[in-house]
Parts: sequence; C-alpha cells; structure tokens
Amino acid sequence: MNKRIYNFSAGPSCIPKEVLKQIKKESACWKKSNVSVMEISHRSETFLEISNELHENIRKTLNIPKNYEILLLHGGARGMFSAIPLNLFQKKEVVDYVIGGYWSNYAYREASRYCSANAIYINTKTKDNKKIDLIPISEWKLSNSKYLHLCHNETVEGIKIDLSNDEIFKKKIVIADFSSSILSEPLNISNFGLIYASSQKNIGISGIALVIIRKDLVKESCQVFTPSILNFFLQTKHHSLYNTPNTFSWYVSTLIFRWIMKNGGLQKIKINNQKKSNLLYDTLDKSHLYINDINPKYRSTTNVTFRIHEKGLNEKFIELSEKSGFLFLRGHRVMKGMRASIYNSMPFEGVKKLSNFMKDFENQYFPKRKFF
Ligand SMILES: Cc1ncc(COP(=O)(O)O)c(C=O)c1O
Repeated sequence: MNKRIYNFSAGPSCIPKEVLKQIKKESACWKKSNVSVMEISHRSETFLEISNELHENIRKTLNIPKNYEILLLHGGARGMFSAIPLNLFQKKEVVDYVIGGYWSNYAYREASRYCSANAIYINTKTKDNKKIDLIPISEWKLSNSKYLHLCHNETVEGIKIDLSNDEIFKKKIVIADFSSSILSEPLNISNFGLIYASSQKNIGISGIALVIIRKDLVKESCQVFTPSILNFFLQTKHHSLYNTPNTFSWYVSTLIFRWIMKNGGLQKIKINNQKKSNLLYDTLDKSHLYINDINPKYRSTTNVTFRIHEKGLNEKFIELSEKSGFLFLRGHRVMKGMRASIYNSMPFEGVKKLSNFMKDFENQYFPKRKFF
C-alpha cells in the first residue's frame, strides 16, 4: 500500500512512524533476551530497566521537581475521576469542580459520589451569540474550598482553558486533567497539586494513567472504601507496581519519550503544534463553508472541531476524506460535525494535506466563492 494515511483519531491516536518501526523490530525479541517485551516479568531486571528509563524521562521531559511523585496507574483518566476524591478529599468536603465541557462534567459527576463537589460552569456564549466562550478565571464563582479541579483541554468540544494567568494557583490547590494536552507544550508543574492524563494520546497507547502528585498530598489516610489499586500511598510505596502493570504500554511510552527528546523536547514540540493548529484554524477562518464554534481565545491546539452548515455535506466530507486517506475525522457523537486531533505524532505534512483537501472540497461542493 503506497497511499499515505493520516490518522486524526482523538485517542487511541497515531504513533510516530519511527516508534512503530522500533516496536516491530523489538516485539519478537527484546534486547537479545530471546523473548518479546510482552513476555518478561514486571519484577525482572529487564523490566526494571524500562521502568527506570520511563520514570527518568518523564521527569526530565516535563521538568518535574523533586517534591513530586510520578505514578503510572491503571484505570485511565476515568479511574482518576474516582481515585482523586477518594485519596485527597473528605466525604463531606466541598471541592470546586470547574465544568468547561464533556470530560470535566464526568469528573464532577464521579466526584459528587465521594465529596461535596461544587460545580462551576464556565461555558457560555460570545456577545454576538455565535461562538462558545469561556468565563474568564477571574470571574469563576469559587467557594472557599482548598482544592479546585479542572480539565485543561476538552477533547470533545476542542476547548482549552488559558492557564497563563496564574492567580488561581495562589488561591487553590489545583488538580488538572491533562489527558489531551500533556506533552503538547512545557508545563509549570509546581503550579499544580496534581496533574493526570491517560496515555492513549501523547504518552503512547492506552493502558496507563499518569499521575504527577506533590509529595505532601500523598497521605496514608484516604476514604475507607478506597480500592487498594487506586490508593496513591500504596502505589507510591510500591513504585506503581502494586500489581502487574500494562508492561507493553510502559514499554511503548519509553519509546515515545525517547522520540520527544530526540525531536527537541517540549519547546520544539510546542512550536510545531502551534504551526499545525494555526494552519488548520486559518483554513477554517478563511472558508465560507466550514465553521469552528469556539471563541479563538479558547481554541484547543490539539483537537480542532468544525462543521459544515449545509447538513448533508458533513457526511459527504467524512466519506471523501476517508477515501483520500484522512482517517477518523468524524466528530464526537455529542458535538457531531468533524474533529481533527493533531497530537504530537501528527506531522505538519499531514495537516497541510488535510488543509488542501478541505480547500478542494469547498471549491467542488460550495463553489459560490472560490477559496483562492
Ligand atoms: C480530557 C479527557 N479526560 C478523560 C478522558 C477519559 O480517558 P480514559 O478513557 O482513559 O479513562 C478522556 C478520553 O478521551 C479525555 O480526553
């Protein structure tokens, strides 16, 4: 097959070509061991090498200070929706949950089972009623809670909270879901009490929930019915090996971190990601056919959502894009329309080709005003 395929899936998502090649090379026989990486014990010296490299490179790449613990857990980000309140909050404790979209709403609903979650809805409309807008942080209706939970990048809607004004970090211990934006740009970890992310976007394949937690928040006491597997204290004590981890997922992540470092680290990755999202949003903004519904200030750099105002054309777009080698552009069932997820592994070339395809499609099916 010669045609180049570009995978715009929101997760599990595309993996760099070099990493796939390396997996293929090593999958039958890992480092002269005569067995595949999937067959070695998680207690073996060989696996410890993987684990040590992974922990070291996570710390290096994200510039994680010494007073933070790295945990690699089961259960994905949804698992952490339960683990966080169970480990950190008291049963009746009030905790602010910022709701900007689909995933933060689920985090709030799950937390409500274990604490007194206070919903802060931040989704609104721009003054002209045309776009989805976010209420700025300075206007959030905060309670006097110690903790605040937010989702940095709403994968479904394609919305990103701007955290560059760090006032909120002075008021609260901030806990953030970074599932779809982790490793897309440098982060000031010290601002947060805890950040977490599931692995199937920028960290590798599914199977890991990465948790970066300030050490003083890892306490022996937690809500009584907390399953041991979700217990941060126990998992810290066992270096995330309380039970058998998803060894293959850990291995793939070591390759992803090597790839990130080889490609200049997060500063370079950020520039590349901006280039990709700028091109796509520029294509949308110059078009008379496609619409992005988000106030440009809050547009996601990793998940670009759009739709076509002529209803039947959305389906036509999906059909033709697939035939042309652009996969998984169908939007989430809640948002409908289209979504191009352009995580780190999506090359600029893929976005450029998608942009050209979109222009051609517009010229062919909506030729009232020519694109060029
Ligand atoms: C921002 C965000 N949070 C949470 C989740 C849930 O992740 P998981 O399916 O790994 O539990 C997702 C999944 O796409 C997500 O994008």
